[in-house]
Amino acid sequence: MIAVQTIQAVRQELGPGRRAGRRVGFVPTMGALHEGHVSLIRAARRECECVVVSIFVNPTQFGPSEDLAGYPRTLDEDLRACQAAGTDLVFAPAACEMYRPDAVTTVHVGKLSEPLCGAFRPGHFDGVATVVAKLFHIVMPDRAYFGEKDYQQLVVIRQMVRDLDMPVEIVGCPTVREAGGLAMSSRNRYLNVEQRRQALRLYQALTEAQQAVAAGTRDVATLCDTMRQRILAGGPARIDYVTIVDAVSLEALETVDRAARVCVAVRIGDCRLIDNMPVDVPAAQG
Ligand code: PAJ
Repeated sequence: MIAVQTIQAVRQELGPGRRAGRRVGFVPTMGALHEGHVSLIRAARRECECVVVSIFVNPTQFGPSEDLAGYPRTLDEDLRACQAAGTDLVFAPAACEMYRPDAVTTVHVGKLSEPLCGAFRPGHFDGVATVVAKLFHIVMPDRAYFGEKDYQQLVVIRQMVRDLDMPVEIVGCPTVREAGGLAMSSRNRYLNVEQRRQALRLYQALTEAQQAVAAGTRDVATLCDTMRQRILAGGPARIDYVTIVDAVSLEALETVDRAARVCVAVRIGDCRLIDNMPVDVPAAQG
């Protein structure tokens, strides 16, 4: 495995393999790697001849009041995890390598960037789309792997790739969970024992909603009320949103009558946790 810090070095390392027809699989990350990230690297390893991981805490996707400075940085451990999962090349640039001081170009994926987390984190998805577009131009992957954990991000990136005709296949990978169901996240390390127990309620609320839909409940207000109660009964938490949206357009639904996604974002202590699950109803049954 090779680790490089410059765009030029990435292009140098990947050029010959690409010309020889080796498929490049790419996993963009912000580091602090856990089993969720590793599952993406393993998927890339299975499907591609060359596996590239980027580790870059992207400043432009953090709001002014968000935890950019406090975001966990564990590069040595991350490099070991990348190596163990079969990575060929790690790109870990400094912020000045990715952003020139006079840069003014951004990517805005209209409409899909606005609801859900977009409403609570203004500019977040512009930062994500812009850095992912830049990384795609640097790495030029054949396939790029994203977790369903960040469902809106996955939908935004798919739309960007379609709209801008980027020659990369986006592969969505299932959410990896801790024992008990809590979705793995770099932020989980900031939860104490009590907060962790409470965080499990997100998973419980989501699975209960899934079961309720399977059992025939279709009314979104009813489903979301039950989820909110389940989450708040666990202790102090601030709910940013609990909602059910169209799985493709992310538009809020009143009735679950198509492929949908139940999505939650909750603040517990200083931690903002998000999670989601599919709730699919065959159209004929809607
Ligand atoms: P980061 O939060 O480090 O996540 C990197 C990738 O890992 C994302 O595709 C995310 O969805 C996936 N991931 C995180 N937790 C997961 C879990 N429990 N199971 C499965 N996949 C999981 O997302 C970002 O970084 C950034 O926004 C980035 C795309 C790198 C742009 O800066």
